[in-house]
Amino acid sequence: MTFHVLIPDNVDQAALDVLSKSDALRVTAPGNMKRDETLAAIGDADAIIIRSGTTADAELIQAGSKLKVIARAGVGVDNVDLDAATAHGVVVMNTPGGNTISTAEFTFGLMLALARNIPQGDASLRNGAWDRKAFGGVELKGKTLGIVGLGRIGREVAKRAIAFEMTVIGFDPYVEASALASLGIEKVSLDDLYGRADFITLHSLVTDETRHMINAASIAKMKKGVRIINAARGALINDADLAQGIKDGHVAGAALDVYEFEPPPQDHPLVGLKNVIDTPHLAASTSDAQINVGVEAAQLVVDALTSGTYQNVCNPAVLDKVAKPAG
Ligand code: MLT
Repeated sequence: MTFHVLIPDNVDQAALDVLSKSDALRVTAPGNMKRDETLAAIGDADAIIIRSGTTADAELIQAGSKLKVIARAGVGVDNVDLDAATAHGVVVMNTPGGNTISTAEFTFGLMLALARNIPQGDASLRNGAWDRKAFGGVELKGKTLGIVGLGRIGREVAKRAIAFEMTVIGFDPYVEASALASLGIEKVSLDDLYGRADFITLHSLVTDETRHMINAASIAKMKKGVRIINAARGALINDADLAQGIKDGHVAGAALDVYEFEPPPQDHPLVGLKNVIDTPHLAASTSDAQINVGVEAAQLVVDALTSGTYQNVCNPAVLDKVAKPAG
């Protein structure tokens, strides 16, 4: 029996190499498929491997009449309709560890760039200026970093901040204070974090509780001069409220890698705003991370299709419906 694996987004060659080792798999991976091309091709696919470029919504999942597996080469499955997948007996799996370091390093890069106005200085010099006064910054040493969400990435950011001699406080309702204390992080309430942090970095999932958690009310609780970094998900921020906080001078700046709708529209209130650094969802875009997540996603697909073993399942309720393949 041959299974067809469709890969609409670009993945690293190392992922294709893993798949090509299995005689049981046939792979279609033209790269960068458009939505209508993916919709046309998915009817023949047993599995798809996606990054954030493909939205596996109910329409796409329903069109995949043979579809058994969706493997997300990355962490977030907010581009997958998990309920629709479960209803159609499709197992969704992700690769949560592969881009942790890249994302943590990028977050730290954003924090340094924000503290020292590095992109603005570069842009100014490119425009012919030699302005050493306009881009004064602050040191990280001695400042307090508030980390919202202490999963893998938040913890790696904390390690780096401690190495920079920052005080690290964190909010995460799912992690014990003792576990954080052993990492050098003081567990605090969200209000306490808002009141004490000089820098706030977001590493939470988007849920009903966290959607637009950075808004006028939470900004009002923050220290004047706070700087905010988001390399997690755009929907954590109410864009208009943050833009207002920056214009009012209450928030000294923000560095954003993610947007509620990507790409952000031209008139997005935070794109191009003074004291805001914007990057196009680059945190996991290193060759290292893409090899890690691509290889891991490919192996998940091989194991699922050829031996009926499933790891990192994001919709565990589906497992009751999934029959182990014979042999
Ligand atoms: C993730 O969810 O893994 C990151 O945001 C990177 C990506 O979307 O590919």
